Amino acid sequence: MADKPEYIPGLAGVPAARSSVCLIDGSVGKLQYRGYPIEQLAEQCTYEETAHLLLFGELPTREQLETFEQELATRRKLKFRIVDVLKQLPESGHPMDALTAAVAGFGMFYPGDHVADLEFRRLSAVRLVAKLPTVVAAWHRIRRGDDPIPPRPDLGHAANFLYMLEGEEPDELAAKVMDVALTLHAEHSMNASTFTARVTASTLADPYAAVASAIGSLAGPLHGGANERVLAMLRTIDGSSPEAVRRWAEDRLARKEKIMGFGHRVYKVKDPRAVILQGLATQLFERYGATPIYDLAVELERQMSELVGHKGIAPNVDFYSGIVYEKLGIPVDLFTPVFAIARVSGWLAHLLEQLQDNRIFRPSQIWVGEADRTVPPIDAR
Ligand code: CMC
Repeated sequence: MADKPEYIPGLAGVPAARSSVCLIDGSVGKLQYRGYPIEQLAEQCTYEETAHLLLFGELPTREQLETFEQELATRRKLKFRIVDVLKQLPESGHPMDALTAAVAGFGMFYPGDHVADLEFRRLSAVRLVAKLPTVVAAWHRIRRGDDPIPPRPDLGHAANFLYMLEGEEPDELAAKVMDVALTLHAEHSMNASTFTARVTASTLADPYAAVASAIGSLAGPLHGGANERVLAMLRTIDGSSPEAVRRWAEDRLARKEKIMGFGHRVYKVKDPRAVILQGLATQLFERYGATPIYDLAVELERQMSELVGHKGIAPNVDFYSGIVYEKLGIPVDLFTPVFAIARVSGWLAHLLEQLQDNRIFRPSQIWVGEADRTVPPIDAR
């Protein structure tokens, strides 16, 4: 008999695809989208250029970019019946659930023959990238009784999202910071939500179902949901002195509780996205004034580096993202939806890649239960 296959919890390190979308070397903090370093993309490209790169494999020429930007801008609007769906949801519900519901609903409003139809695939992808920010902003307004603000086609993807939240056009720095934050979150290889998207896509379900399932996966506190919890956690810390911060971290580690915004399955050094986000946070503070919670975060990072840095536990992307979003005026429970707005282009890049050479996912299991039992009569159980 063949050897039993080894069980690897969380499939850690098990390849689930051949991919050319995103390269990570977690030992040195290297992150590249289709071979381009994240640092260069963040500095030189917009989110729209990055989304084009992820979806279609190459950075756009000037002409391709104009066409893509226009297509995204014209597809931002929501059908009024999707807005009606949002209006039926309880206003106390989490925005990630509202987003999942709306995106799942897209499948009914935009039916396609089959994902084998290349135009249906492309159009669904563009629609999803274009409309997710509108759903999130519309939900945010509907839940407090305000009318959604229609998207403005003359604004870029990031600036338009901030505009749709409160109706105020962001200044250049705020729009740039939002844009870079979207680029940083756009893709990250085979994480839980991307794997979810690929599994759903592998059944030849439509892209709306694949993205809806990925949004559900992203919502969990160990994945995208961590960014909300970082700010909540920082607010519980006594930041009056470095010693107080250290005591807090030591206590929490002694209780074996996770410290949100630290640790990563892949990175064993500081996440390169956290480095870039920290730079953005600093720019925002120079323009709009400092936030004490940032100094506390920096102190916690210093203490954690001394306590557990040697174990490869360092800040991940979520550690500074919440601080940046808060400064941009984004409500805390929209942090994870913002992650989804960005990551949708990565999910779709993987979906398109999966469909190019598809085989339905069907892993095996290791049986640990009893076998060959006989059903006893009900009175004998
Ligand atoms: N705080 C304290 N200890 C930690 C942390 C942390 N944040 N992360 C890992 N460790 C310890 C863990 O206790 C374990 O120690 P030991 O070997 O003594 O039992 C060791 O490091 C390995 O941890 P693990 O949980 O087995 O690592 P993993 O690769 O399964 O999990 C993780 C990775 C991101 C789920 C985990 O680090 C974590 O829960 N971090 C906090 C939540 C968080 O910030 N998530 C955002 C991740 S980045 C964005 C995203 O992917 O969505």
